[in-house]
Amino acid sequence: MPSSSVLKAAAAAVLALLGQSLAAPSVLSATATFSSTPSATVSLVSNTYISPHASYTGTPTTTGALSTSVLAPSISPRPAANGSSSYPADGRLHAALAAPYLPSGGEGTNGSAPVYRPMSDYDYQALSLALYQAWAELDLLRYGLAEYPQSEFYRHGLTPTDRYLLRFMAEQQVGHATLLTNVLGPGAPRPCAYNYPLTDNLTEYIDFSQKLFKWGESSIYGFVNHLNSRAAGQLLTQSTAIKARQQMLLRQFAGLFPMPVWFEPGIPRLLVVDPVGANFPALHIINQPNPARINGSDAANETTGAPANALNATALKKAGESSTPLSYPGRQVFLRWDAPGIKVGPNNSYVTSTTAKQPRFALWVGQLNATYTPLHNVRNNTADYVPAECHRVCGGSRR
Ligand SMILES: *[C@@H]1O[C@H](CO)[C@@H](O)[C@H](O)[C@H]1NC(C)=O
Ligand SMILES: *[C@@H]1O[C@H](CO)[C@@H](O)[C@H](O)[C@H]1NC(C)=O
Ligand SMILES: *[C@@H]1O[C@H](CO)[C@@H](O)[C@H](O)[C@H]1NC(C)=O
Ligand SMILES: *[C@@H]1O[C@H](CO)[C@@H](O)[C@H](O)[C@H]1NC(C)=O
Ligand SMILES: *[C@@H]1O[C@H](CO)[C@@H](O)[C@H](O)[C@H]1NC(C)=O
Ligand SMILES: *[C@@H]1O[C@H](CO)[C@@H](O)[C@H](O)[C@H]1NC(C)=O
Ligand SMILES: *[C@@H]1O[C@H](CO)[C@@H](O)[C@H](O)[C@H]1NC(C)=O
Ligand SMILES: *[C@@H]1O[C@H](CO)[C@@H](O)[C@H](O)[C@H]1NC(C)=O
Ligand SMILES: *[C@@H]1O[C@H](CO)[C@@H](O)[C@H](O)[C@H]1NC(C)=O
Repeated sequence: MPSSSVLKAAAAAVLALLGQSLAAPSVLSATATFSSTPSATVSLVSNTYISPHASYTGTPTTTGALSTSVLAPSISPRPAANGSSSYPADGRLHAALAAPYLPSGGEGTNGSAPVYRPMSDYDYQALSLALYQAWAELDLLRYGLAEYPQSEFYRHGLTPTDRYLLRFMAEQQVGHATLLTNVLGPGAPRPCAYNYPLTDNLTEYIDFSQKLFKWGESSIYGFVNHLNSRAAGQLLTQSTAIKARQQMLLRQFAGLFPMPVWFEPGIPRLLVVDPVGANFPALHIINQPNPARINGSDAANETTGAPANALNATALKKAGESSTPLSYPGRQVFLRWDAPGIKVGPNNSYVTSTTAKQPRFALWVGQLNATYTPLHNVRNNTADYVPAECHRVCGGSRR
């Protein structure tokens, strides 16, 4: 068909859709400007912060975690339910359509209204964790704009447009905090007092930020599909898609490759710090290489320590960019963990505790799987760990 016929056919189709509503319809000179009054305005959650990033002097109220009675020390593994694998995945239809073009099955497809609220303790705690994360990200973005002048951004090759991007990200975070606050209801967590292990060198801020956004993203991927409220999970997924873009941009501010993986890892729920899940003592990776160094093999004590283990510009010995991996198969990793009894969490309102015995394994959560490897030389609060068992993906360059 010549292209003019295609146009006419398309115009005819559009006219058919428009029906009688326009007196003299013409798709080639369409009216492009309309105005209308929005029917509702969105009311944003109050997002003022309580402290100018000074040390916080609140009294912790909870040791360990919130708890009710505990049914079992752990969840026993068992096979998938009978019949789970019986669907004949052959591309044909095996049941009547639920409605025209709507194949049988799926969850939340039967016409029941979606429930955009927590439906279990699991949901509430997970969604409030996501909200705490959004508050922290918002504060960190505002902190970066307030503490680092444009001159410092210029020194790192970043322009006023880049600062505008940070400001826009902060607005996005207000949107996410509003969403999650509305989902959780009136008891939703409010912002805390935040302190960052940062100096006035912008490289530290950028590295810390890309890591904070990374763990927010991976935490949510670890639990979002386990929420009882699939509807709330859907909203969370759509805000996490933005968090993931923010994380990539922050990596690029640091001059890093935007996405060094094929799949983003999801962190197991119990390892994510939240009010119920895990007020475990912090883990320090003693020889985590400073991301700005050239050669990861002789790194020691040159990051800001747990939990972020982020760039410390003061401790940096050798700056520069290189293709030498900071980590590689067989690289020995030295670990140290805090003793319990340290104040953590929102407003320092929890004290860390542990019921663990002598640790025996490290869990390496990668993009393809989670792998346990034995710990060596476990002493009081330190151990060595040789991730020789995980090859290419565990051992790849991680900055
Ligand atoms: C599942 O199937 C196995 C083998 O057919 C059977 O032994 C088991 O009782 C079934 N379990 C349930 C919960 O039906
Ligand atoms: C529709 O599905 C929901 C779960 O998504 C379920 O709670 C509800 O009972 C179902 N309604 C009917 C009429 O089957
Ligand atoms: C932290 O403490 C401040 C001041 O007491 C309070 O306004 C805020 O709600 C608290 N935030 C959390 C998450 O507990
Ligand atoms: C990295 O540093 C170690 C120890 O200083 C050295 O043995 C090794 O040759 C260096 N590797 C590269 C690629 O420079
Ligand atoms: C790293 O710091 C720890 C704790 O402060 C210290 O015990 C250790 O000697 C340091 N190691 C090196 C190589 O500097
Ligand atoms: C950064 O490194 C310097 C020098 O080693 C050290 O004094 C400082 O405590 C470190 N900063 C943090 C937040 O760990
Ligand atoms: C900031 O840190 C970078 C390394 O990350 C370093 O190259 C630069 O010299 C530092 N700037 C200042 C003013 O210390
Ligand atoms: C390990 O802990 C014991 C008891 O608290 C202490 O006596 C010992 O000095 C510690 N050992 C090391 C290497 O820190
Ligand atoms: C997990 O992934 C790593 C990295 O690709 C691989 O070396 C290892 O064999 C995998 N483990 C299992 C149990 O599949």
